[in-house]
Formats: sequence, structure tokens, C-alpha cells
Amino acid sequence: MYEELIEVAKLARDNAYAPYSNFKVGAALKTKTGKIFQGCNIENSALSMTNCAERTAFFKAISEGEKEFEEIAIVGGKDDELILCPPCGACRQVMNEFCDKDFKIVLFDGKDEDVYTLEEILPLGFKL
Ligand code: THU
Repeated sequence: MYEELIEVAKLARDNAYAPYSNFKVGAALKTKTGKIFQGCNIENSALSMTNCAERTAFFKAISEGEKEFEEIAIVGGKDDELILCPPCGACRQVMNEFCDKDFKIVLFDGKDEDVYTLEEILPLGFKL
């Protein structure tokens, strides 16, 4: 069901800049109007400056005027092997800022896809 979005996430992962962890992540974020924004992780020798794939995709979309999001697909792993890559806490909080509770997070481990809602992966999220 999410094959296309997963394929775009894989393409985004090809652009990952991850020389320190070697763990490459790609994300494909779909807006409610059907536009897809790609994101990859971008590391830095000052490690805490690293930006995750998911936040790259969100910040690209938001900086281009998008505010309503439907779903995101995320793929990650070392070399050619994908493993399940659930979003980190910081990325979940960014999702919580811009998405409804029923926003979908699609995870693909190279074999199976798992779909969660934002409410499932971030219960009791902080929002002003
Ligand atoms: N990373 C992501 O891009 N997204 C996640 O959801 C988890 C972790 C990146 C950050 C870092 O470049 C590498 O994966 C290893 O932590």
C-alpha cells in the first residue's frame, strides 16, 4: 500500500551524509495535497549538529510553505541492509508540532512495512 512512498524514501537515503555512523536514513514525507518531500540524515564532525532524515524532510516542506501532512515513510540501515528505523524522540516532537494524531509513520525493514499513528508512537506528546 505504501510502496511508492517507501521507494522515494529509499532514493532519499542514497543522498544521506553519514560518514561517522555509517547509518544511512531516508524519509519521504507526503502532504495532504499529495506532494512528497525527501529527507536524508546529514551528519557533522560536531556530532550533535546532525540532522535526522525525518526532520530534514519536515524542514524542507515547511520552508516551502507546506503545513498539512498525511504520512511519512522511513528507511534506514548500514550499507545495503535496511533495518527497522523508528524515529527518534526529537523527530517525534517535530511531527507532533505539525501533524494530527492520526498522521501515519510507515517503517520498512527491507521486507515488511509497519504502520503506526503519531498517537501510538508519541502518547501524551507536549503541545502548547
Ligand atoms: N537517524 C535518523 O536520521 N533518523 C532516525 O530516526 C534515527 C537516527 C540518523 C542520525 C544519525 O545520522 C544516524 O541515524 C545514527 O544515529
